[in-house]
Amino acid sequence: MKIAPSILSADFSRLKDEIQAVEAAGADWIHVDVMDGHFVPNITIGPVVVEWVRKVTSIPVDVHLMITDPDKYAPEFIKAGADWISIHPDTCANPNATLKKIHELGAKTSVAVNPDVALSQVESCFADIDMVLMMTVFPGFGGQAFIPDVLAKITAARNLIAERKLPILIEVDGGIKTDNVARVVQAGGEVIVSGSGIFKTPNYSDTIRQMRQAVGQA
Ligand code: DX5
Ligand code: ZN
Repeated sequence: MKIAPSILSADFSRLKDEIQAVEAAGADWIHVDVMDGHFVPNITIGPVVVEWVRKVTSIPVDVHLMITDPDKYAPEFIKAGADWISIHPDTCANPNATLKKIHELGAKTSVAVNPDVALSQVESCFADIDMVLMMTVFPGFGGQAFIPDVLAKITAARNLIAERKLPILIEVDGGIKTDNVARVVQAGGEVIVSGSGIFKTPNYSDTIRQMRQAVGQA
């Protein structure tokens, strides 16, 4: 299990300290939620901030684009230092072309699957992705409640990926905390995004240790 704290729930007045604190606490990646106020009803951060995030950490920067025009902006996020780019396929005229372009620019690719989207709707992207991002909340805000119905779909994704021997990781995002991380990993989650579940707790090292203990990793 890799742990990717979402900085959406960090204290932005101390962003460098927050990032370095989760890195020191054992985080594997930094998850950055990019929202444009169009695709989702919230506005967060852009490439300028990612550029600074890149400068203060050495672990992979995982950028989750919740924006209407990833074709236009993904290159800017890669230039700013994103290692991973997740797109919501319904935001692209031709998701495969967008994913290929992201690869050409040197980043790893992922497609996000909303809670109400079937795996079959994104299967056509599988040839062009390094990861699938299973949403366990509807995108837009941190701190929402985990939707347990998605667990079965995570397992279906794991089985499909195993059957076809595809080199695709499964990331899970939304409402994950120390008390449900084991269910997510048991279902097939490999990269665990957690925003409020880490940044709203008093001691990041304790929280990340508890997450690893919950899955038998510590
Ligand atoms: C939701 C975002 C998630 C979310 C995670 O739109 O993609 O990354 O902020 O935050 P928590 O863990 O608080 O649900
Ligand atoms: Zn996210």
